[in-house]
Amino acid sequence: MAKNSPPPGTSDIFPSDIHAWQELEQSANEVFSLYGYEELRTPVFEYTEVFKRGLGDDTEVVQKEMYTFEDRGGRSLTLRPEGTAGVMRAMLGTDVMNGNEQRVFYIGPMFRGEKPAAGRKRQFHQIGVENIGRKSPLLDAESIAMLIQYLEEIGINDSELLINTRGAQSDRKPAEDALKAYFSEHIDTMCDDCKTRLENNVWRILDCKSRDCQSSIDSAPDPSSYFSDESKDYFKKVIDALDALDIKYKIDTRLVRGLDYYVHTVFELVHSGLGAQNAIAGGGRYELFLPGSKKPVIGVGYAMGMERLLMVRESLNIETKLKSIKPIYLVGLGEPAIMRNIKLAALLRIKSLPVISEVEQKSMKAQMRTANRISATYAIISGDDEVANKNFVCKNMETGEQSEFSEDKLIDFLTNKYEEEK
Ligand code: HAM
Repeated sequence: MAKNSPPPGTSDIFPSDIHAWQELEQSANEVFSLYGYEELRTPVFEYTEVFKRGLGDDTEVVQKEMYTFEDRGGRSLTLRPEGTAGVMRAMLGTDVMNGNEQRVFYIGPMFRGEKPAAGRKRQFHQIGVENIGRKSPLLDAESIAMLIQYLEEIGINDSELLINTRGAQSDRKPAEDALKAYFSEHIDTMCDDCKTRLENNVWRILDCKSRDCQSSIDSAPDPSSYFSDESKDYFKKVIDALDALDIKYKIDTRLVRGLDYYVHTVFELVHSGLGAQNAIAGGGRYELFLPGSKKPVIGVGYAMGMERLLMVRESLNIETKLKSIKPIYLVGLGEPAIMRNIKLAALLRIKSLPVISEVEQKSMKAQMRTANRISATYAIISGDDEVANKNFVCKNMETGEQSEFSEDKLIDFLTNKYEEEK
């Protein structure tokens, strides 16, 4: 381990990479606001119960992946493994429980103790959206349309939408019985995890990626054929709306998703530019129970993995449009010049120009080296003579051209130059 490495599965995001992240965030703000969504920020940790109850006690995330700890007051807390449960906890205090709608999005780090791999981290970042409080197939379709529009905005046009229905909660029993009956016959040839899943949560078998299990899964009954007409009709309306919006999709009857709160529509966006971890987004409609609430919070939403979005953008050679604005560097030779530069820097910043002013007594050569290292546009040079003449030497770092200006003229000149560059 190099001594500057962060813990496994986490990364530093350096200034040289930050614009790509900021671009994803800025586009989220722009696109989501067209649909009436506003940002919500919730804590990165919650009471453990929020996730146990919210995501389901026997989900893989809750069973194996949560970072749970006891605080000094003896409370069990957990670093959020996903955003939906915390957002719903916050929403319990609003009018969503009376059928009023809230549209929110969130951006931030999530934590899962998974085995790190390409595109799979222990601290990763999600951009998520939730349409809370109402139930309509049109909201499900609109929320997918917003996802597609967002991906197009950030340059990703070639992902595949996989969609399925999990039916209503009340529909599950007949489908579950059929799956149990079928897999009991095939379980001998299947992996150990699936043997446990057969007991605990047979639906998860459909999600198994083990080679040994694929042929049995391929021939399994389609659970949706056991659903009520109401659930089938709900799904048909989602599909009709996607058709009306000209959104391409593939119905994947094996898509169940790993969290227990889903009902009806579930979907994932996958991209071939990624390896095994090919989902860039996942979500669906949910009914989420929280500690102490008798009624579930309902809604539809999804989250995208920011690391994966960036990996896809890189595989498509998409350039980041946001760039740093290169600074002006103030070179001061001697105490009086350095002091005067501090004041000049303040005046330039009032004009919205980026400035770095040298504060130590250093040689001309050392300061010019700094100007190059920070990619300064101009070096503004002054020593005792310039202070006496009330002038500054302005050097264009690209062309090497030098001119001398009074303070007012220098400020005008630099303001105009930066205006031209915009
Ligand atoms: P999820 O499918 O668990 O859903 O995660 C959503 C996305 O987060 C994934 O498609 C993936 O891009 C990214 N992701 C998940 N785990 C990791 C990881 N370990 N490393 C890197 N990226 C990862 C949810 O989290 C739901 N809360 C989505 C939702 C919102 N459903 C309804 N509303």
